[in-house]
Amino acid sequence: MAVNCCWRFWAVCMLTFPSTFSLQEEQPRVLLVSFDGFRWDYINRVPAPHFHYVMKNGVHVKQVTNVFITKTYPNHYTMVTGLYAESHGIVANEMYDPILNRTFSMNHMDIYHAQFWEEACPIWVTNQMEGHRSGAAMWPGTDVRIRGVLPTHYMMYNESVSFEDRVSHLIDWFTSENPINFGLLYWEQPDEMGHILGPENPLMRVVINETDAKLGYLVSELKKAKLWDTVNIIITSDHGMAQSSSKRLIELDQYVDREWYTMVDHSPVVAILPKEGKLDEVYESLVNAHPNMTVYKKEEIPSRLHYKHNSRIQPVLAVADIGWEIVKNKTNPFLLGNHGYDNTLPEMHSIFLAHGPAFRKNATKGAMNMTDLYPLLCHLLGINPLPNNGSFSNVEDILARPVPRELHPRDYEKESYAYFIGVSLGTILIIVFLVVFMKHLTHSQIPTVQARHTEIAQPLLQG
Ligand SMILES: *[C@@H]1O[C@H](CO)[C@@H](O)[C@H](O)[C@H]1NC(C)=O
Ligand SMILES: *[C@@H]1O[C@H](CO)[C@@H](O)[C@H](O)[C@H]1NC(C)=O
Ligand SMILES: *[C@@H]1O[C@H](CO)[C@@H](O)[C@H](O)[C@H]1NC(C)=O
Ligand SMILES: *[C@@H]1O[C@H](CO)[C@@H](O)[C@H](O)[C@H]1NC(C)=O
Ligand SMILES: *[C@@H]1O[C@H](CO)[C@@H](O)[C@H](O)[C@H]1NC(C)=O
Ligand SMILES: *[C@@H]1O[C@H](CO)[C@@H](O)[C@H](O)[C@H]1NC(C)=O
Ligand SMILES: *[C@@H]1O[C@H](CO)[C@@H](O)[C@H](O)[C@H]1NC(C)=O
Ligand SMILES: *[C@@H]1O[C@H](CO)[C@@H](O)[C@H](O)[C@H]1NC(C)=O
Ligand SMILES: [Zn+2]
Repeated sequence: MAVNCCWRFWAVCMLTFPSTFSLQEEQPRVLLVSFDGFRWDYINRVPAPHFHYVMKNGVHVKQVTNVFITKTYPNHYTMVTGLYAESHGIVANEMYDPILNRTFSMNHMDIYHAQFWEEACPIWVTNQMEGHRSGAAMWPGTDVRIRGVLPTHYMMYNESVSFEDRVSHLIDWFTSENPINFGLLYWEQPDEMGHILGPENPLMRVVINETDAKLGYLVSELKKAKLWDTVNIIITSDHGMAQSSSKRLIELDQYVDREWYTMVDHSPVVAILPKEGKLDEVYESLVNAHPNMTVYKKEEIPSRLHYKHNSRIQPVLAVADIGWEIVKNKTNPFLLGNHGYDNTLPEMHSIFLAHGPAFRKNATKGAMNMTDLYPLLCHLLGINPLPNNGSFSNVEDILARPVPRELHPRDYEKESYAYFIGVSLGTILIIVFLVVFMKHLTHSQIPTVQARHTEIAQPLLQG
């Protein structure tokens, strides 16, 4: 880390020497905004003038592939860590950790036990450890003391606090005497209405239009505070939404005894904790039960989902096909819109817009991975990323100026090969050098031990 730091500093000095003074005035600032459940294609359903305004003056990535499971807490934590859910530890909105013997629940806002969050270190903590200040308006997890650190400014989660109120706090923090360099803003819509109405409901047009008006309000407040042209703003979402129907219910009661298991997380990806000794019975009862439900034992979960290596992932996982809901019986309530499904499905994908001095103008990119947002944020803030599953080089083409290779944030995804090759080559070179050097030495000084020396060199070469 220290070496990386020095290298970065040196590279910055060398490469930006002529403009060092102008750079100093430009303290890099970033505002990350999430509109919960804003499906990537919602902007095509209504005029959405404010979304289009940002797109024309900034960057639009059409679809963001988020992480499995495509739920709120896992994806918000991926955005700020660059890790898959199995690696950052927030594997669902409703979790049970058998080691801690504790539950985590978004529905009951029982999310404050810090150990659930501490398998990773979110970007606001790193930002502050590097001497900066962060401010968060209701972003999931920002009111939890993680690794002993809270954001410099934050608001206790309260969904009744208006969007306008959240924006006004952020503007204050960005313009105060000791300003923040990093802000996070979260808004519950259009997710909440998307669940109630279902995304195919014509009334969703009104909801999307209202969200567009919220974005318009944010832009106008940033302009008033003279922040619009100087702060880099990223507008994204955690997941999309799919239409459900009472005609597409899978009833677990028809296949398995309720007494045999606990349902830890709910439809459409059901986390099942079988009772003691019931694992095989539960699995066998469900595995071929319904054509629109795929059931895995934990160790069989496909590796492409990156959803296996964590004790909070339960022994049996039942995944519904898109548009299907898994319930215990038909009288259980279900939502008309839902998400959580396979993250390769376009209906689950998120939106991405960016505006500010760092970004290109009127530029469009087809797709990106949610994991790449974290190295991008670290680059924008000038901080060192922690090990993550993203890649900066996948997203650097949305930046206005090319970034010299030396200034790239560490790419943990790509560097493992490079590192291996580098170390191997280095080792071989050193061995060859030593052998040649010693040969030379012994040859010129003590010609009589040359034969013996060759034998000594052999095991070295094999090692
Ligand atoms: C887990 O916690 C519950 C109470 O929340 C307790 O009843 C139970 O005994 C605990 N189990 C273990 C194995 O400690
Ligand atoms: C949540 O915010 C609303 C609106 O500002 C306020 O009336 C209410 O008292 C707050 N609730 C809590 C628990 O702070
Ligand atoms: C969208 O919202 C704006 C104000 O927020 C309103 O003036 C307009 O009529 C709305 N349009 C639709 C199609 O709902
Ligand atoms: C549900 O299962 C049927 C039968 O296998 C299949 O034809 C259909 O495509 C599935 N539905 C979805 C949404 O995958
Ligand atoms: C359906 O589930 C509900 C709640 O889980 C339960 O109260 C009810 O008895 C069940 N109905 C049938 C017919 O099993
Ligand atoms: C934005 O780009 C599109 C297509 O690339 C082009 O047609 C349009 O004129 C551009 N708009 C502006 C304001 O540059
Ligand atoms: C997303 O990540 C996968 C796996 O690392 C990679 O193969 C793919 O090219 C990435 N997609 C984009 C759009 O960068
Ligand atoms: C994701 O990144 C973490 C931290 O570097 C690493 O432990 C994990 O193996 C990575 N996952 C994958 C699938 O590469
Ligand atoms: Zn959400």
